[in-house]
Amino acid sequence: MGNPQQILEVFRAELSVADDQAKLRELRVRFLGKKSELKNALKNLREIPAEQRADFAKQLNDIQSTVERELSERESTARARELAQTLEAEWVDIELPGVITERGARHPVHAVEDRCLAVLRQLGFEVATGPEVESPFYNFDALNIPPHHPARDMQDTFWVQGDLVLRSHTSTIQARTLEKRPELPIKLAAPGRVYRNEAVDATHLAMFHQLEGFWVEQGLTFAHLKGILSFVAGSLYENRKFRFKPKFYPYTEPSIGLDIACLNCSGDGCEACHQAGWVTIIGAGMIHPKIMKNFGYTEPGVRGIAFGWGTTRMTSQWLGLSRAKSLYEQDMRFLGSLRRRPG
Ligand code: DAH
Repeated sequence: MGNPQQILEVFRAELSVADDQAKLRELRVRFLGKKSELKNALKNLREIPAEQRADFAKQLNDIQSTVERELSERESTARARELAQTLEAEWVDIELPGVITERGARHPVHAVEDRCLAVLRQLGFEVATGPEVESPFYNFDALNIPPHHPARDMQDTFWVQGDLVLRSHTSTIQARTLEKRPELPIKLAAPGRVYRNEAVDATHLAMFHQLEGFWVEQGLTFAHLKGILSFVAGSLYENRKFRFKPKFYPYTEPSIGLDIACLNCSGDGCEACHQAGWVTIIGAGMIHPKIMKNFGYTEPGVRGIAFGWGTTRMTSQWLGLSRAKSLYEQDMRFLGSLRRRPG
């Protein structure tokens, strides 16, 4: 065992060049660890002549405390320095704008559909759905459109293998429901896609959305129908002018249409309304007595009212679009730019 003073000198010499935490850890093991010279010397005090022992022990203890103190000081400076270096290296500018991910949103047609359903729910209607690939019976025959009726031309659609059609309107749900003869009152709203074999232009598409509503109950009159349609138009389009006009549908008698004033119309050359100034958004009427009878609704006073909303056109008129087609072109730059236009 060397002179304790020498141990301190060696320690100091090494400490002066130990500049990181790893080296300091080594020094701690070497000078203060279980197998260090100091610990050994303390363990072997017995070998020191008795008269020098206390003095020697004190010297060893003093040196041990000095080593401990000087080492700890160096350790804490090294720790602080290394922390500062890490912080510097891993610096993050918290004021930098984040990576902004696009937020999704309801497709405008679905947003309008939701609003229509919300209004109808207030009036006690429930939502129903039905197949898009349909038997011609529900699309035509059951709705009083026999095979050679001109209305089949107006709603020419696509035929699918197995003598089925892509439904040309959501009125199919009316036929499907009445056939099951549920308990009265029946109050249903059925939104969905429909298909037509159309020459595509600004307002005519081969696929678009509709929403069918119907209500069957004792004592319904034409006034109920007008009331509902006025309420709906007023709720959705607030101050927009609307008007009723007589129409023909084989499945209603009498039949009416509801037009709203064209939002887009600047007069000349408006594509949205073909310069008419008005756009028909709803076809409606009292369910034809023949249909009521065919489905067995023969109780006196039981009447049905039905209405079909063109939710695609309603969306165009909601947003002030001239080309309804753009709604289905899936161009995010266009869809993302849509905002409701007041009016
Ligand atoms: N089905 C018609 C169409 O596609 C809309 C319609 C008219 C629905 C009158 C009805 C109705 O329920 O009663 O143009």
